[in-house]
Amino acid sequence: NKALVLHGPNLNLLGTRQPEIYGFESLDDINNSLYEKAAVNGWDIRARQSNHEGELIDLIQAARLDGTAAIIINPAAYTHTSVAILDALNAFEGTVIEVHLSNVHKRESFRHHSYVSLRADGVIAGLGGQGYLAALDAVIKAASKS
Ligand code: DQA
Repeated sequence: NKALVLHGPNLNLLGTRQPEIYGFESLDDINNSLYEKAAVNGWDIRARQSNHEGELIDLIQAARLDGTAAIIINPAAYTHTSVAILDALNAFEGTVIEVHLSNVHKRESFRHHSYVSLRADGVIAGLGGQGYLAALDAVIKAASKS
């Protein structure tokens, strides 16, 4: 069982970027906890971060063809702007879980709308790095039911 974890723009700065909003955990910390949980459950995960919309789209397109069962994605600011990422996810047939570290609904109104939520099977916001582990839980459970 394979899952792809995608982190969008500026998430490479986690731990040092506005830690009062995004927490002190680094992206490596988050990815390592995901790799550990995946290994325990017999899942193979790949985590990628990109600051480039087109690169995120290329990674989503590749996942259509390589047997990836699920995508866990924090599209970061592209959440609120990217029809192209929505279109790419619409072409992917597996499970899609959208994750945000912060509770976007408690923040500026431009963060309240998500294009990706039109496709996501589930959305998690406001739980910090823990949200990714909750997403992986959901992915594992969804696969065991199908
Ligand atoms: C974010 C929320 C977005 O609004 C913001 O642009 C981000 C991160 C989050 O994880 O809380 O970069 O997706």
